[in-house]
Amino acid sequence: MKKLYGIGTGPGDPDLLTLKAVKLIKSADKIFAPNNRGKNMALTTAQEYINEEKLVLLDFPMGQTTKKTYKEAMEKINDLLEDGQNGVFLNIGDSMIYSTFMNLVQANEKDHFVFECVPGIPSFVAAANSIQKNLVAKGENFLLADDPDRLVLDGVDSVAILKTSKNLKGLLEKLEEADFAYYYVARVSFPDQLILVDKEEILEEKNYMSLLLARKKSL
Ligand SMILES: C[S@@+](CC[C@H](N)C(=O)[O-])C[C@H]1O[C@@H](n2cnc3c(N)ncnc32)[C@H](O)[C@@H]1O
Repeated sequence: MKKLYGIGTGPGDPDLLTLKAVKLIKSADKIFAPNNRGKNMALTTAQEYINEEKLVLLDFPMGQTTKKTYKEAMEKINDLLEDGQNGVFLNIGDSMIYSTFMNLVQANEKDHFVFECVPGIPSFVAAANSIQKNLVAKGENFLLADDPDRLVLDGVDSVAILKTSKNLKGLLEKLEEADFAYYYVARVSFPDQLILVDKEEILEEKNYMSLLLARKKSL
């Protein structure tokens, strides 16, 4: 059997990697990470613990991935890992939140793998800590979305919206219509982290590594 770990590497600050993630990355036979023109935030986060000789970058072209892309990636991982070996696949934040890893698990058609997932600190949890605002307090509800339905927002107290760069203006308008106060947080946990609340300033930003945290004004 071969074992593949989905490792959540947290929001970017290496100090927010878990001890378990570090142990597994250090002891892995192969380290896999999505290739983003030779760069990858999860990889940068874990850089100190990465043996370059064991590193394999896999291509998942943004907006162009299909089930075939994930199947081919799993076949490559299968070819590169020998029986009895362990691989780690590095994910930004946590592997259960908008991540490539679960697409790989779902596209896997071979029985040679055992999968295990190691949680990481999700970006929106790190951002809420950073601005020191509750994601949820007693009796409230919370929505995590990348493109929330306008009417759904009416029934929600608090929301985190990831992947904001696609339609930032539309998202802010929806939040305003539904009477939310919002924070825009980019590059959470990095030294150049940016926190904005002014609409015009937010709209000047075009950072993929950004999210919105919003709570109903009435709360
Ligand atoms: C493909 S999703 C991955 C989410 C990740 N699995 C998590 O648990 O946060 C990528 C989105 O996560 C958010 N994100 C990840 N890291 C971030 C960071 N350090 N600062 C701000 N947003 C971040 C952004 O909204 C980005 O567009």
